Amino acid sequence: MTRRRMRLVAFLLSGPTAHHHGMWRHPETDNSFLTPEYYEHIARVLEGGFFDALFFADILALMDFYKGSYETVLSRGGQMGLLDPMPMLAQMARVTKHIGLGGSVSSSFVHAFQTARTFATMDHLSGGRMAWNIVTTSSSPQWANFGLEPIPRDERYDVADEVVEACTRLWDSWEADALIIDKASGRFADPTKVHRVDYAGKYVKTRGPLTVPRTVQGWPVLMQAGSSPRGRDFAARWAEIIFTLQHSIPDMQAFRADIHARMDARGRRPEACQILVSVDPIIGETRAIAEEKAAFLNDLVDPELGLALISAHIGTDLSHYPLHQPLRDVETSEGSRGSFDVILQGTRSEGLTLGEAARRFAVSELCPQVIGTQADIADQLQAMFDSGGCDGFVLTPTTFPGCFEQFSRGVVPELQRRGLVRTRYEGRTLRDNLQA
Ligand SMILES: Cc1cc2nc3c(=O)[nH]c(=O)nc-3n(C[C@H](O)[C@H](O)[C@H](O)COP(=O)(O)O)c2cc1C
Repeated sequence: MTRRRMRLVAFLLSGPTAHHHGMWRHPETDNSFLTPEYYEHIARVLEGGFFDALFFADILALMDFYKGSYETVLSRGGQMGLLDPMPMLAQMARVTKHIGLGGSVSSSFVHAFQTARTFATMDHLSGGRMAWNIVTTSSSPQWANFGLEPIPRDERYDVADEVVEACTRLWDSWEADALIIDKASGRFADPTKVHRVDYAGKYVKTRGPLTVPRTVQGWPVLMQAGSSPRGRDFAARWAEIIFTLQHSIPDMQAFRADIHARMDARGRRPEACQILVSVDPIIGETRAIAEEKAAFLNDLVDPELGLALISAHIGTDLSHYPLHQPLRDVETSEGSRGSFDVILQGTRSEGLTLGEAARRFAVSELCPQVIGTQADIADQLQAMFDSGGCDGFVLTPTTFPGCFEQFSRGVVPELQRRGLVRTRYEGRTLRDNLQA
């Protein structure tokens, strides 16, 4: 029997940090995130490590929930999306041949026609390697930058359903052989193979056809990270990759089982969607070195930044909450359910106070830090994978680019020896490679 393949996706954010807020302060970290070379280099490193894909998360505002100001996030180097991911992905496509390239685009702000056009264009430029991380955009500062008031959470997903439906119709509006380009006969394209879509939903209307011919991949791979019940239903309908924050193996198992049940109800097979959990590797030559490195890195994190971050992720100002008590669940229409859930998981299983949870959130968003030698890291990943808790990992860097260089050079060969990850890219498109 062939072994189930472990999927590896790299998490990138154009700014000082991904999840680990000590990252930009580490002596070895390269902070040239405003230059093209930074992105070209990491794309090559990750392809050298046979990653399935890299993707950019994105944040469309300087988050200012905490004390009503972005002062803490900006002054201490919190999560920010400093550059627009799509042009960077085009550049990364030029220096790679195989790795998948994911961009986050909001279904709440960008019209379906524009999203379909951008991803189809990028899919041509990359030879069929694009993924769309469909985000509904969960917080008011981001809405305010578009001059809008947020709509309720479930309705955001109703809109997203229509946006994705309309995009798929537009991507399908060109048949694969519509372009002829025959100089002798003067026939450029066959109009009978290019179709109007006439999509008219409650929120989205588009006539079509798309202006971009069909790509070799047809559609980009669809990614999603929402976690509320409505978000999970949306993922069960569309997602081919789910990115989730989970605190422990039992939490991972429960989440994956829930998604599989929702997919089953829609007639989708579990293999149609790769459920990837976030982990943060810290790799050392020996276990003791790795532990010391982790202690050093985790000490670089400003505890108040953790509070500002949780505030941003759950959409509530926590500056007046008591730090020595656990955070209790509250229903908010803003923020990310997935982020709230992982905080509650940590609070329940380890009895964390808000102060402790904030520090841990600023280190790994309460997801597992995998610490040790190359073999230790491989063991820990294999344990999570074999438990049935996930189909693979979204790896978030703890130093940059060193963490990904060490992982690609050291841990990936170890995982290859165990038959867990690929030794070559088998397919042409990202979707082919995800199914191989
Ligand atoms: C792991 C994870 C990563 C996410 N990445 C992004 C992102 O990069 N940009 C964004 O706007 N929202 C991001 N989100 C937010 C989700 O796309 C979604 O809008 C939000 O979680 C609200 O939906 P929910 O309540 O169903 O979780 C992320 C959420 C999670 C859990």
